[in-house]
Amino acid sequence: MVSWLSAEGLSVRRGGRTLMGPVSFDLTGDGIAVVMGPNGAGKTTLLRALHGLERRRGDVRWGDAGLAAGRNQAFVFQSPVLMRRTVLDCIAFPLRLDGVARAEARARAEVQATRVGLRVDLGGAVEDISGGEKQKMAMARALIRDPGIMFLDEPCANLDGRSTCEIEDILTQIRDSGTRIMMSTHDIGQARRLAGEVLFLHQGKLEEQGIGDTFFDAPKSKAATAYLRGDILL
Ligand SMILES: Nc1ncnc2c1ncn2[C@@H]1O[C@H](COP(=O)(O)OP(=O)(O)OP(=O)(O)O)[C@@H](O)[C@H]1O
Ligand SMILES: [Mg+2]
Repeated sequence: MVSWLSAEGLSVRRGGRTLMGPVSFDLTGDGIAVVMGPNGAGKTTLLRALHGLERRRGDVRWGDAGLAAGRNQAFVFQSPVLMRRTVLDCIAFPLRLDGVARAEARARAEVQATRVGLRVDLGGAVEDISGGEKQKMAMARALIRDPGIMFLDEPCANLDGRSTCEIEDILTQIRDSGTRIMMSTHDIGQARRLAGEVLFLHQGKLEEQGIGDTFFDAPKSKAATAYLRGDILL
């Protein structure tokens, strides 16, 4: 099968220490690619390296040349970066950087806010909205340039069940609209609900790669088996 993303000997080193890798994998499915693993396994580092935020070694190849372009990729951080602006202008910001006129940028930001179900005063200050709403705002901002791929680092880490459920619905809609999604999560239930493919990391190495339910029902590696069972991995 043709892969849309392949990594070969990808690693990130800092200060003489390998933070992640070397890892090699091919992603081939249409579903969401979920990166799992305990704290410090290298999930954030892997996502950042793929997006070009880390100096990396090894090869990263995108199956579709369009995906390789930085502006066709969006990244949603675990704690959204906030600006001293209104919610609407925060969402519109990437378009303003592109030189889109304010009125048009705001109109398009409103469309994205609706798309992600952000029901707040869009003219209000971004500091005043809740954590879950900030997460939705960050998604709307990430979506506004209609990216080919969206990276999300633990998008639901601080959210309650209802907000998590809403974000999961948005993610599946985005996936169905044809945007590639690669995300990390600690939440095994969430991974099971969303994953088309799974990359399981442990101590910076790729312990196991699996397709959807097969991974959860019959993990092959000791580390993934223990993790899914709820054991603490050292
Ligand atoms: N800025 C940094 N400087 C030095 N080491 C770092 C830095 N960021 C991360 N690391 C180290 O790199 C390794 C991988 O970290 P990473 O944040 O990618 O893990 P993670 O799987 O995302 O963990 P978590 O589940 O806690 O978010 C860890 O050993 C971590 O201590
Ligand atoms: Mg992390």
